[in-house]
Amino acid sequence: MRRLFPVTDMTAHATEAGDREWSLDELADAYAYPELPEGEGAWLRANMVSSLDGAGQHDGRSQPLSSETDMRIFGTLRALADVVVVGAETVRLEGYRPARAREAFAARRAAAEQGPAPVIAVVSASLKLDFSLPLFTEPLVPTLVLTGAAAPAERVRAAREAGVEVLVAGDGAGVDPVRAKAVLAERGLRRQLTEGGPRLLGQFVAAEVLDELCLAVSPTMTAGDAQRIAGGPAVAVPTRFAVASLLEQDGFLFTRYRRI
Ligand SMILES: NC(=O)c1ccc[n+]([C@@H]2O[C@H](COP(=O)([O-])OP(=O)(O)OC[C@H]3O[C@@H](n4cnc5c(N)ncnc54)[C@H](OP(=O)(O)O)[C@@H]3O)[C@@H](O)[C@H]2O)c1
Repeated sequence: MRRLFPVTDMTAHATEAGDREWSLDELADAYAYPELPEGEGAWLRANMVSSLDGAGQHDGRSQPLSSETDMRIFGTLRALADVVVVGAETVRLEGYRPARAREAFAARRAAAEQGPAPVIAVVSASLKLDFSLPLFTEPLVPTLVLTGAAAPAERVRAAREAGVEVLVAGDGAGVDPVRAKAVLAERGLRRQLTEGGPRLLGQFVAAEVLDELCLAVSPTMTAGDAQRIAGGPAVAVPTRFAVASLLEQDGFLFTRYRRI
């Protein structure tokens, strides 16, 4: 792994050591959340992968675009988060499972007063989710569902009968991104990570609640008509981000941008 940005006096040395795999501790330091003011606010980062030509999926999955290092960073970002917010379609297509407790991050999580693994919060309007899946029946920390006040009553009941907590974060059928961020923060889940998918991420961007994007640029091209990493209606004025860091491994660029 090589650090290409920020450039420091150590960059030359770091480049020489470029073939060395970074430890999980080094990755965790590199991706640490910013300090949040005592008891208030939340930081929402997204972690996504894209091909060179902008595809956020291939054959309905992100895995063909990914790499071993990308998955190590994916795991590290999860290990730093209080909550992983994910769209229902990604849960359905990617067969989401509960987050695991990782020995490598146990001390760091304990010091940050975090539970053994992040909470998974699934965003869904329909609640067409299989509540008998391990994501809902076997998590170390209970999986949450975020929905709107007008969600189908029988699906809300099905979730609750399965012991799944349903949080309302919107007045209509859907979730309001601003409320979702606030509702999670009120529960103390302030270090927030979204893993998409594109339809959900587009709404976070449009509502200006996305603070940071960790984007892995995969050295692949797919052509075709795959979704980009953010979809839905375009924003009126493109949202500006500034580069915070840039790492490279095996041709993958691991970028981190902060909203300005
Ligand atoms: N490149 C990457 O890093 C990456 C990351 C994640 C996923 N992906 C890929 O993206 C694809 C899936 O993404 P997607 O964009 O189609 O779907 P998605 O964003 O994962 O999920 C869309 C679903 O989320 C729920 N949802 C979204 N916004 C909502 C709101 N405001 N209120 C309530 N519910 C809301 C709805 O669920 P209901 O239908 O249940 O109402 C909606 O159908 C997969 O192919 C996956 O592999 C790529």
